[in-house]
Amino acid sequence: MSFEFNDENKTKVAEILKKYPANRKKSAVMPLLDLAQRQNFNWLSKSAIEQVAKILEMPEIKVYEIASFYTMYNLKPVGKYLLQFCKTTPCMLRGIDQILKDCEKKLGIKMDETSADGLFTLKEVECLGACVNAPIVQINDDYAEDLTSEKMMQILEDLKAGKEFKIAAN
Ligand code: FES
Repeated sequence: MSFEFNDENKTKVAEILKKYPANRKKSAVMPLLDLAQRQNFNWLSKSAIEQVAKILEMPEIKVYEIASFYTMYNLKPVGKYLLQFCKTTPCMLRGIDQILKDCEKKLGIKMDETSADGLFTLKEVECLGACVNAPIVQINDDYAEDLTSEKMMQILEDLKAGKEFKIAAN
């Protein structure tokens, strides 16, 4: 399906571009990719990448290289909730592997897969910069911190039941 920014996002694109000199507009590639991804159900299709390249007058391959380098961009469709498991040492030492195993078992999927109901996708990422509260799983734009398997299973149940994820106060 071909991608085009909607009217609201066209305005945002113009605002983003104003932040950079006209002869340096390719500096806006990351915020534009982020905006495109948010409009496109949290993933970047080839068409979305082409659209960003066109606006910034960049070769498509350059935009693709950026989109494929950072884990914050998804190059294939993901579920409604993208669960990003931090697998760097502090989170590993604090038990992220067991939490991941329990999630895989509960959802019947493995890393990089999406549940049959389209709700959950599991993804591995490096340090999310919140090691003080390890272990961490990023759920869309929010962090679930100081996790245990028990807490994570409850979060999955709540999300399945249509409840919004709320960051719990400790
Ligand atoms: S190691 Fe997991 S947030 Fe830093």
